[in-house]
Amino acid sequence: MKIGVIGAGTMGSGIAQVAATANFQVHVFDKQPTALERSAQQLDKILSRLVGKKRYSVEKKEGIQANINYSDSLSDLSDCNLIIEAIVERLDIKQALFKDLEKIVKEDTILASNTSSLSIASIASALQNPNRCIGMHFFNPAPLMRLVEVIPAIQTSEEVIKKSISVLKEWKKSPALAKDTPGFIVNRVARPFYGEALRIYEEGIADFATIDWAMKHFGKFRMGPFELMDFIGNDVNYIVTETVFEAFYYDPRYKPSFTQKRFAEAGYLGRKSGKGFYNYAENATKVNPNTDEIVGNQIFERILVMLINEAADALFMNIATANDIDLAMKGGVNYPKGLLKWANQKGIDWCVAQMDSLYDTYREDRYRCSPLLRKMANENEIFFD
Ligand code: NAI
Repeated sequence: MKIGVIGAGTMGSGIAQVAATANFQVHVFDKQPTALERSAQQLDKILSRLVGKKRYSVEKKEGIQANINYSDSLSDLSDCNLIIEAIVERLDIKQALFKDLEKIVKEDTILASNTSSLSIASIASALQNPNRCIGMHFFNPAPLMRLVEVIPAIQTSEEVIKKSISVLKEWKKSPALAKDTPGFIVNRVARPFYGEALRIYEEGIADFATIDWAMKHFGKFRMGPFELMDFIGNDVNYIVTETVFEAFYYDPRYKPSFTQKRFAEAGYLGRKSGKGFYNYAENATKVNPNTDEIVGNQIFERILVMLINEAADALFMNIATANDIDLAMKGGVNYPKGLLKWANQKGIDWCVAQMDSLYDTYREDRYRCSPLLRKMANENEIFFD
């Protein structure tokens, strides 16, 4: 089976590395020859580091590199069986590319998109045969993150879904099947991790360092929300939130935050600009959290229950199975535990009581309890029963 990757940027380069490491032949195409050169150089650096650490042999490194052919002509991809697109996030440009591809590939070539925010149905609609189109959403860095969200459009054939899942398993990835809805699984369910943290800050309950400490100390998250937003970039994270909010017809649950918007507008983007919620200058003084256990635990539980409520609601709306929702949050954003499993451990009654208490306090739709959690509490059910 031959693989095509289009777009040799961050994601395309990572996806090509994944496929080549699994010993698949890969053709990488980018309209910018310099992007191809950069991609090859970057791969050489990554693999050399692995050889240096004795994780890979020199033969393995060379084998992976030999599996990849960089090409500045789209027609070199004509004999590929699966092509994954990772170009700029613009519907018109993706549609034009898919139309061009359809003219040169075989009848049964699968055309996949790595889009994070466009609907797969809209990309597929550009094709003569939309049944061959599917979403394959990798996470950055693609070689390290196990999760790949597989998103069939309403047009996608069963055969294409089956083949896509099977290839990803051969690449040692964990595919999670998601409905073609805004944010798929991860970018939807993860919203409160950022949004509720920002809200807690805006209410003046705690500062960035304290909220981050609470999530790491009590929740065992690897990074706190503000550290993570600084890592992702406040510009990028804000746009994802805004896109999801708009795509959900302005459901208040996904409302973006002025705080983050102002940070993005000010150019306080995070690590990449040297300053975000934290200062990354060499001589910057470290901000100490307030490690009051009671306040910290309240912050942690408020963000956790909002995440659980979002995960439960995704299940309620049939976005994915309970298993895939938990798998996605562990494999895509490194959550220490699946949220639905966490809900069982905290108790479904506890989750409902926490949500109702937030709702009673604020009287905002943002804090509505998922009907699924309420039904489960009434019927004494737990997830994965
Ligand atoms: P990037 O900007 O690093 O790379 C995009 C590459 O595509 C560039 O090298 C550019 O020259 C090339 N390109 C643009 N238009 C093209 C065309 N018409 N034909 C051929 N090549 C073209 O972008 P990145 O971050 O790799 O994102 C790519 C896609 O993956 C986007 O759809 C994005 O939403 C999605 N994505 C990004 C993630 C991330 O964390 N960066 C995570 C998951 C998905």
